[in-house]
Amino acid sequence: MIFRQALALLTLVACCTVALCASQQQSADPKPQLTPTAPARDNTNQEINDRYVQQVLQKIAGRENEPAGKVFKNVQIAWFKSVPAGRFLRIMNGGYSRALGVSCTHCHLEQDFASDDKRPKRAAREMAAMHRMINEQLGRMQNLETKPQERAINCSTCHRGAVNPMASER
Ligand code: HEC
Ligand code: HEC
Repeated sequence: MIFRQALALLTLVACCTVALCASQQQSADPKPQLTPTAPARDNTNQEINDRYVQQVLQKIAGRENEPAGKVFKNVQIAWFKSVPAGRFLRIMNGGYSRALGVSCTHCHLEQDFASDDKRPKRAAREMAAMHRMINEQLGRMQNLETKPQERAINCSTCHRGAVNPMASER
């Protein structure tokens, strides 16, 4: 009797150990996959954004060096208007999108880039004005070692790949 109970207990322990190992195995399994998928997601964003840029470039073919204010419909930021359209798109891609870690459609309606319907696009205009103000103020500072033109900050100085810079401080 005692032997049988002991055997049952042993079987139970063995089963639990197997189950525990299996569950540990399961919880351990997805972890190593996290590393490969995280950069893959970023790459996908970059691929998507490059594709959007290509689409716009095709539409404006031959006008890449004309001012963005003339080539596009709704460029309101004063210093953007005179930037060549091709460079404007590189700022949208390598500057705005990369700094926030988003695709173009975080700010734009896919079917109408001129539309201001998306709140983040309107927020980005306000951010651009703030970024400009900070750089002007940095340029006026008297007690820095660096030359005024070496002090410019940009979107990624704060954002560093995150939509909300405060949330990224984990
Ligand atoms: C963080 C927000 C944001 C992201 C991301 C972004 N844009 Fe923009 N985009 C803007 C803002 C703001 C304007 C308007 C600028 C102005 O008013 O001077 C604009 C304007 C444009 C315009 C001009 C549209 C027109 O006809 O007036 C194009 C084209 C454009 N963006 C393309 C892109 C592409 C392509 C991407 C992705 C690679 C992108 N944008 C990502 C904020 C963004
Ligand atoms: C001095 C720091 C700083 C700089 C520089 C800065 N941002 Fe921001 N940005 C913030 C902070 C902080 C928030 C979050 C504000 C909140 O939601 O309370 C934010 C939020 C945003 C949002 C709103 C995102 C959303 O989906 O709600 C957009 C869009 C944005 N920034 C675009 C830009 C762009 C484009 C630039 C460069 C032209 C820029 N930011 C430069 C600090 C900065």
